[in-house]
Amino acid sequence: MKISQLDTPALLVDLDKMNQNIETMQQRINDLGLMLRPHTKAHKSPIIAQRQIDAGAKGICVAKLGEAEVMAEGGISDILITTPIAGEKKIQRLINLYLKYPDFRFIQVIDHHDHVAKIGQFALKAGVCVELMIEVESGQQRCGVDVGEPLLELIRAIKNTQGVSYAGIQAYSGHLQHVKGYAERNHQARNAVTSLFNFISEVLEPKELAPEMISGGGTGTYAAYQDLSFSEIQAGSYLFMDAAYQAIGDEHSHLENNQFSPALKVISTVISAPTEKRRVIDAGMKCLSIDLGMPKLEHTEGVRYQTGGDEHGILHLEDGEGLPKLGQKVILLPSHCDTTLNNFDTIYVVQGENVVDEWPILGRGRSD
Ligand SMILES: Cc1ncc(COP(=O)(O)O)c(C=O)c1O
Repeated sequence: MKISQLDTPALLVDLDKMNQNIETMQQRINDLGLMLRPHTKAHKSPIIAQRQIDAGAKGICVAKLGEAEVMAEGGISDILITTPIAGEKKIQRLINLYLKYPDFRFIQVIDHHDHVAKIGQFALKAGVCVELMIEVESGQQRCGVDVGEPLLELIRAIKNTQGVSYAGIQAYSGHLQHVKGYAERNHQARNAVTSLFNFISEVLEPKELAPEMISGGGTGTYAAYQDLSFSEIQAGSYLFMDAAYQAIGDEHSHLENNQFSPALKVISTVISAPTEKRRVIDAGMKCLSIDLGMPKLEHTEGVRYQTGGDEHGILHLEDGEGLPKLGQKVILLPSHCDTTLNNFDTIYVVQGENVVDEWPILGRGRSD
């Protein structure tokens, strides 16, 4: 089938670009002397996770337990759940993963004594030992225990609790991923974790409490962590490279990030042509998320996308030749890949003009 024969709106991935992105990031992380544990919240597909592992990734990250369940079901055997969980139902589901896949590795991120006590209680009853990774505050002021005495106490709590073990530390500075300018971004990313690495060498190492694993970093900040003792990088968006990430700059350009190629697209149809300078397409906010700005039209200068609500997108002719005709198809590059992908059940895999495969997005909607 040709791309132009797809019914719309539909989500596309350019297979060659995605494969190239996978290879490039793996190579870059290898060159930094680090390991890659890609964050699969960007794609939610065990098929793609397996490709990342085949390329050299040591395991994967998921944001939610629901995603972990989907990935384990799909055969992915080393999974870090990067968001803390609370409540008996969630803890029981975590324990169930341990029971159902005894040969797999699951690591759960936590940041509070109550997590340790409750997970330990459930694990002990089930006869399993749950690996816990402590999230520390590294500037984002989201989850994370403060570096210093609170971190030390939490490590001790894990060590003193049956049913759990101390896997390591997570430090993810999400607020810095989109800082413009390569040097400035790397500088801020290193500063955000300086106190952690000082604390590890000055306090944790002498007490033999240094973490075996330190996990963090994203598509914007991974390069900052050479020579720091990070053991693995959690980048995710590099796979698809959305418009927001393209605008952060790289080592060669302040304006563009060309380290990775845009591989995720949405195809949409012009459903209305009310005026000379306005078209309406069938992709609104239920297809294309706009939390990080508006999507861009591929290969089209002078046309601006504006949201027309849930189901409509509006194309405005700012300058240039003309707008697509009624019934014509257009391709858009999303501004934010994670939240755009989560609107679709299927991703059509394309090479050139051809649709060569379709993959179900099994983790879609699994924010539970
Ligand atoms: C904890 C954590 N790690 C890693 C990532 C991946 O970062 P990016 O998609 O910016 O590469 C995210 C993204 O939100 C995250 O929340």
